[in-house]
Amino acid sequence: MSTSGPQPRRKQSRKGSMADIPKDLLQEIKRLEDLFTVDTAKLKAIVEHFISELAKGLSVEGGSIPMNPTWCMGFPTGNETGTFLALDMGGTNLRVCEINLPEEKGEFDIIQSKYRLPEDLKTGTADELWAYIADCLQQFIEYHHEGEKLDKLPLGFTFSYPRWTKGFDIEGVEGKDVVPPFEAALEERGVPIKLTALINDTTGTLIASSYTDSEMKIGCIFGTGCNAAYMEHFSEIPKLAHMKVDPNQEIAINCEWGAFDNEHKILPRTQYDVIIDKDSPRPGQQSFEKMIAGLYLGELFRLVLVDLHEQPHVKIFEGQDVAALKKPYSLDASFLSDVESDPFENLQETHDTFHTKLNIKCTKPELELIRRLAELIGTRSARLSACGVAAICKKKGYKTAHVGADGSVFNKYPHFKARGAQALKEILDWDKGRDGKPLGRGHDPVEILPAEDGSGVGAALIAALTLKRVQEGNVMGIRDPEGMLRGTKASDSKSKQVAPETK
Ligand code: GLC
Repeated sequence: MSTSGPQPRRKQSRKGSMADIPKDLLQEIKRLEDLFTVDTAKLKAIVEHFISELAKGLSVEGGSIPMNPTWCMGFPTGNETGTFLALDMGGTNLRVCEINLPEEKGEFDIIQSKYRLPEDLKTGTADELWAYIADCLQQFIEYHHEGEKLDKLPLGFTFSYPRWTKGFDIEGVEGKDVVPPFEAALEERGVPIKLTALINDTTGTLIASSYTDSEMKIGCIFGTGCNAAYMEHFSEIPKLAHMKVDPNQEIAINCEWGAFDNEHKILPRTQYDVIIDKDSPRPGQQSFEKMIAGLYLGELFRLVLVDLHEQPHVKIFEGQDVAALKKPYSLDASFLSDVESDPFENLQETHDTFHTKLNIKCTKPELELIRRLAELIGTRSARLSACGVAAICKKKGYKTAHVGADGSVFNKYPHFKARGAQALKEILDWDKGRDGKPLGRGHDPVEILPAEDGSGVGAALIAALTLKRVQEGNVMGIRDPEGMLRGTKASDSKSKQVAPETK
């Protein structure tokens, strides 16, 4: 990353002081530190187990981590060209993008429109959802291509909610094939679009990032959920051996690594992690994700505070109304992030936030505990996240790599990047950076960097790569190759090495 002018090596943060903290709270702080701290040895043990679990997910018998082949075969060359659409459904918005890939290597132009997702749609029927999406796409095309006679535009759709964990609850979508009803809705309205690729957000991130930076080897999302995608050789994927593809051919794998350690062999789960899981819509699933992702950070924090309040020997929030604090999922990751960003020695902002949001007036010692707890939960999240990244790097033998990351936790949570980098350093035993330079400041051998727009540029690129491959007669993993070519303009891609060799 480029920086302008001299920068402080580390973001300044308050020093804090544990002096004047009563013994009971001090003891609790110590207990929480022991509970939430993941030391170097543990990180390394987690990474070793992670590596074997990644391989297991690729094996015929399979494991906890799904390791889904995406049929996005190989990195973009940077020379892809043409016009493609991308559709992305977030928690509140639907985003439609038109991406033009010009002749210039690694360049792109993008136009986009956002459409609000009406609340009632999130709990309505699947048909209503597809109808609404098709209407938005129709509007987009009519607005940007008024009066034009169009070939069918290829569309990449980023759809990462197979589990509806993000405030959605729509019958008939989870675990179902979303393509036929979506295409039917487009067809009904005569919208000139062909759904060319259904994409996970991590794969979009991987492909978009590698288009502009060929060192990008892994795409990660650290947001409401947590997951990664990377490029794997067929020789390493026994579960696809029956397809007899060239062992040197690469394919993007959407790990779905949130499911790591569902059998609870290695992760240092606390009693609070156990409660999160037990009270979740799907107990026993997404163990790793539940310790890391934005969806759960605020809840973990809340559970600890409620537990402390209920311990007779701990004096915390005495005489205060804790009704608001007792409400499950009442605090989100941004609450925690605000606590960690409070710049004042007396934690005035945290005091005010607790007062306005929870109706609790905290004492100074309570504020110190709250701040430490936020740091512990945020740090554990970053350090465990780094385990997944390190596992993929070690599995692939990457001594150096860039990792493209996106998501609210990565982009907004204070110190997440620095803590992740520190954990990578410990796990991978670095003592110096690239070319013998000191670590940090862009010299770390493996660096987690902000990703390129995965659900826009990434989705469009994957649509481009998929279409190119089908045009060249490689239809592996494609459900309706003829349908895909019908009415779509032959891509004028100059890319030479897109289509994989198949035998
Ligand atoms: C959840 C989803 C996964 C997605 C991740 C990040 O883990 O299961 O598909 O990539 O969240 O959004």
